[in-house]
Amino acid sequence: MKLETKPKLEVNLAGIKMKNPVTVASGTFGLQHGQFFDLSVLGAIVPKGITLEPKEGNPTPRIIETASGMLNAIGLQNPGLEGFIDTLPAYEKLNTPIIVNISAGSAEDYAKLAEKLTKTGKIHGIEINVSCPNVKKGGFQFGSDPKETENIVKTVRKATNLPIITKLTPNVTDITEIAKAAESAGSDAISLINTLLGTSINTKTKKFNLANVTGGLSGPAVKPIALRMVWQCYNAVKIPILGMGGVANVTDVIEFMLAGATAVAVGTYNFVNPKVCEEIILGLSDYLIENKIDDINNLIGKVEKV
Ligand SMILES: Cc1cc2nc3c(=O)[nH]c(=O)nc-3n(C[C@H](O)[C@H](O)[C@H](O)COP(=O)(O)O)c2cc1C
Repeated sequence: MKLETKPKLEVNLAGIKMKNPVTVASGTFGLQHGQFFDLSVLGAIVPKGITLEPKEGNPTPRIIETASGMLNAIGLQNPGLEGFIDTLPAYEKLNTPIIVNISAGSAEDYAKLAEKLTKTGKIHGIEINVSCPNVKKGGFQFGSDPKETENIVKTVRKATNLPIITKLTPNVTDITEIAKAAESAGSDAISLINTLLGTSINTKTKKFNLANVTGGLSGPAVKPIALRMVWQCYNAVKIPILGMGGVANVTDVIEFMLAGATAVAVGTYNFVNPKVCEEIILGLSDYLIENKIDDINNLIGKVEKV
């Protein structure tokens, strides 16, 4: 087959129409990246997670590099719902879907956030973070319990008609149980993975490197785990998947899509190369042309056993 036309890059993530499958992982990317490339090329944008009230986050040090990755214990520092809403006009100008990542300590607070964000009429989807490893209340305690996950998703479902994406933690024995709970409670999609709980020690001071002692591991080091979990979830639920974890280049995006992801988010690698998303988006078309694929959707879940 010869490709006569430009390959199709558009994907539909549970009703969110993306011009290409590439978006960013919450907490790793902001409007300031606009100094490096035109952010409207993104398939969607996902700002840093927000809570009802402003949060200062955890004490420093709260970031440390690791082999092929990093540990973070930011603890959801954010300006709160109202502070975020003030920044919405700047996001709107980008002319790409806005998916807002929300965190809370109770199902009711998740629902309040969803309701108020929906009322702005300016956002396109809600990503429920039930997987943060760096907060005392809520976080991955919720996302590692199928019943809690179900309760939160059900409560948020009643508060919004926007697409809901439930963000899963890898810090569980069987991620498919949580994926199924999210699906049965009315989640329109799932995103995975959030970070893996880890730590790091300074051998000179004999102290932990992070003030919080533990942090979340991310970056290329976690990619094989993320891919395995995306593939497991693809085989366990029918709702679409936003895959992430260590994505750094075009090959990584293709791997995630073959494993079952409809869209893919770039996280930690934005710190290494702030232009990586643009480079990946440009490179995707080249990959499709070289491999004579006319529609990127044809890759989703198409991995085969050797
Ligand atoms: C500094 C930092 C802050 C993060 N903040 C959030 C957040 O606010 N909400 C969330 O759901 N995930 C957050 N994450 C997790 C990422 O969105 C992503 O799920 C994870 O880092 C795996 O992708 P990566 O390996 O490409 O970074 C954060 C990660 C990092 C490194």
